[in-house]
Amino acid sequence: MNREDFPMLNNDIIYLDNSATSLKPKCVIDKIVDYYENYSANAHRGDYDISYKVDLEYENTRDKVAEYINAKDKEEIVFTSGTTESLNMIATGFFANLIEEGDEILITTSEHASNVLPWFRLENEYGCKVNYIPLDSNYHVTLDNIKKVVTPKTKVIALAQVTNVVGDVRPIKEICKFAHERDIFVVVDGAQSLPHMKVDVQDLDCDFLAFSAHKMYGPTGLGILYAKKELLNNLEPINLGGGMNESFDSPQEILLKEVPTRLEAGTPNIASVIAFGPAIDYINKVGIDNINRRELHLRKYLIDKLVKIPHIDIINLEADSGIVTFNVTDVFSQDVAFYLNKYQICVRAGNHCAKILKNATKVTNTLRVSLAFYNTESEIDTLVDLLSNKDKIIKEMF
Ligand code: ALA
Repeated sequence: MNREDFPMLNNDIIYLDNSATSLKPKCVIDKIVDYYENYSANAHRGDYDISYKVDLEYENTRDKVAEYINAKDKEEIVFTSGTTESLNMIATGFFANLIEEGDEILITTSEHASNVLPWFRLENEYGCKVNYIPLDSNYHVTLDNIKKVVTPKTKVIALAQVTNVVGDVRPIKEICKFAHERDIFVVVDGAQSLPHMKVDVQDLDCDFLAFSAHKMYGPTGLGILYAKKELLNNLEPINLGGGMNESFDSPQEILLKEVPTRLEAGTPNIASVIAFGPAIDYINKVGIDNINRRELHLRKYLIDKLVKIPHIDIINLEADSGIVTFNVTDVFSQDVAFYLNKYQICVRAGNHCAKILKNATKVTNTLRVSLAFYNTESEIDTLVDLLSNKDKIIKEMF
């Protein structure tokens, strides 16, 4: 589907690592080149035509992002360097000021490092406690399990909407409703959900949302931090510098700009912001529901074949996303990835930065196939064919 839009697919590879980063359509690449070739100026600083064009394009992307996630106000959208920076800003810029000794933060063992380490830092520095929502037998989160661990001390629940190894889709709307009835904040890591499913922040009613452009067919080095305006106003900037201040005369006289500018110190990643606009247009053109449907179809196609291979152990048989995680029995996952690479197949192997998930799955390393709508049944056939012969894997893996 739409393969001709992605120049990378002209190379002789089978790209099945879309959760690490997605491929970019030509319209995104063209926009980056156009910026660098034709109006390469800084943003929000110049008094000349090409600088004015940059400002318009830059803010145009903010409008598109706000509309895409149905934010109430474009000023709720902050450009960051990625999901990681967004989550760090949320933890350190907002919760560090709010959290008190003994307060509790709820996460799960299947979170990616970016949604674990910033909370660990709060525990280490502020004497709060990071607790874990128990996962069910499929490693999924249920509201019932959240109810078991929420206490009057719980301040925040921080969860991926879709996890990067298990690929489960969390019931964020129900979680937000439950949490807000108890004055608990909800932080959503949307890195793996935004590229694949419709996300409406007003419908979910989440307090914060973090995601990355590069997983959404957009450029690298750009993330989004969404927060409800009243919360964003209380998020303290981690970076101070040019662009975000109104005036400064002495350490006592610093006047900062309003959000979101206050949270975008220094020269931003202009080319990526500008080129994220066409990425969103592209998703809208293809249709996020079509993307989701196609990826779930491909997942089923792959799973139906993998379950028939006796030496394949699937970790996440149940998941509503294009992520399929498994092992070849008794073979180290990275060796299998090395073997597949000989056939130009790109998959990810290892712990996928979800380093405490092993506490639940009892498996440290896995192979992960993460599908995108532009993958094909024939690519999956090639993969399955290569995986079906264990002797060949062992013979060729070094
Ligand atoms: N978080 C990205 C992944 O899961 C990098 O591969």
